[in-house]
This record gives sequence, structure tokens and C-alpha cells, in this order.
Amino acid sequence: MRSFLGRDILSLKDFERNEFFRIFEIAEKLEPIARNRQNTDLLKDKTLVTAFYQPSTRTRLAHEAGMIRLGGQVTGFSDSKMTRAGDFYQESIKDTVKMLEFYGDVIVMRHPQIGAPHEAAKWASVPVINGGDGWGEHPTQILTDLYTVLREKGRIDGLRWLAVGDMRMRTMHSLAYGLTQFDCPITFVSPPDKSLTEDFKAELKTYSLDFKEVEHVKQAIADADVILVEPVVQPDYTKARDERTGDEGLTPSNYKITRELLSTKAKSDAILLHSLPRMDEIPPDVDITKWSRYWQEAFNGVVMRMALLASILGKME
Ligand code: CP
Repeated sequence: MRSFLGRDILSLKDFERNEFFRIFEIAEKLEPIARNRQNTDLLKDKTLVTAFYQPSTRTRLAHEAGMIRLGGQVTGFSDSKMTRAGDFYQESIKDTVKMLEFYGDVIVMRHPQIGAPHEAAKWASVPVINGGDGWGEHPTQILTDLYTVLREKGRIDGLRWLAVGDMRMRTMHSLAYGLTQFDCPITFVSPPDKSLTEDFKAELKTYSLDFKEVEHVKQAIADADVILVEPVVQPDYTKARDERTGDEGLTPSNYKITRELLSTKAKSDAILLHSLPRMDEIPPDVDITKWSRYWQEAFNGVVMRMALLASILGKME
């Protein structure tokens, strides 16, 4: 198994099966710190740099919270408009990262451009974590989701997944890559204009991922052990910021998980994940049901970032 020390976390395509289990093991060890709302001194001599060129609530703050729980320091920006990358100079990723590498020991980057964190990693002398790159990938979110499944179901292999939403979404790409390392058949449900691309499907076949596509959640929900939902009413992830105009429309029933659908069709012990933020694809009355696990996902998001930071920075090898 490759060491996590000094490693960039750019894609789940890079992750081997035993590496998933190693990072889950580390997360489980660190979990009591977050559960007991303690701060420790494991990373007291380290600093995290957050470079967020797109809005975020969870990803940035979960990395920051994870770093603080481990006693580390945090610096960075959450709005590139207040940096030289977002003004007249349009400073390049290379020039920006050649500065950031001296401000801390690990960088987490979110960017509207696919491959931006990879470009940063090319130039940085410190590890780079991909916090979401355009429509590309969101590896730390799916590590969080897989860890949530492990904690909630006691295993990952042998579970059937249903993934609902916009398949251009970065989480969906990381999910598909991640599941190639497990015995997990998956059914995708998406609007036809937001479905998996032919190139991506061909790539997944080379990894022997057992997947199919159907048109309506009703066709697949009864078999699912894990239901992972993302919006189909989405902003444009290639933009640094996309405001709401008011004519976004509502989610068609094909892509919606309601309390009624869960009660009548879902397995009693299935679990429902959503990386959030949501639109109307999961109505709030689903929150208080036995299926929902998205608040546990939120907690696990901090634990997973603690595990990644501690491993990358060499404190939990
Ligand atoms: N899940 C997620 O990526 O949320 P944020 O956009 O708030 O970071």
C-alpha cells in the first residue's frame, strides 16, 4: 500500500481498495475526538491553507474544523475575488500556489475548472487536496459517504447502490471511481441531458463496475441498500459563482425521494445519503425518517478530513 504521507488527494481513481480501508481505520480511531467535541494537539505544528475559488459551506469548514480538532492552524481564502486571482491580475494557479506553499503545510482547493487542483499539485511542494474541481471530482466527499456506509451498515461490499441526480456532478464521478474497488452494483437515475457520458461509461466498464441506468427512481429503489441523491436542479459548476434567477423549476418525480416513496418502496434498512446542499429532491419531512443519514454524513465529513489531514501530514501512518 502506498503511504499517505505527503500525498495529494486529487481523485478516487487513484485509490486502491486497501487504501480506502486504511483511511477508514484512521477515521474510526480519530472519531472519538470529534464526537466528544475535543481539540487535541496531534497537528499542533501544522497549518492548513484553504484556497476556495467557489462557494462552499461543508467542504471548507469541515477541513477547517478537522484541522482545528487536531490542534492545527488554518489560513486561506473563501472568495477568490479578494485575491489577485480574482481581480485585474487574474493570477495563475501556478503563481498563486507558489505563494500558498509557504503559508502552510497542506492546501485544500476548490475551483470551477476541472483539473485545477492537479495543476496546483504540479507546482506545490506541499500536498494538495481536491475540494471539488468544476464537474470533475470531489474525492473527500465520497470518502465521507463510503465511511458513512461502513459505519451505518457495518460493511461496504455486497450492498446495492442507487445514485440519483445530475451525473455531470463531481460527486458522481468520484462515487463511480470509488465503487470500482468494492463489490457494489449501482443503478444511476438522471435526466437524459444530465446522464453519464459515453466516454465515462466506457471507462467504468474497463474497471468492471457493475452498473445500469434507469429512468425513474421507482424502478430501482426497492433493491437499494444505499440511496445517494444529488440535485438535478443545479448551478453551473464551471462558474466561480452562479446566482439563483428564480426560474430554476422543480425536481421531476423521477429524481425525487419522498417520504411516501420511501415508506412504500424502499427497503426498511436502506440508508439515504445526500452530500448537500439540496433543492427540493429530498423534502424536509424525510429528515426525520429511519432512512436519512445526511446529518451523520455531516459529522463524518469532519472525521474524514481529520483522517486525511493526519495521514497526509504523517501523524497517523
Ligand atoms: N457537499 C459539499 O461539497 O458541500 P459544499 O458545497 O457546501 O462544500
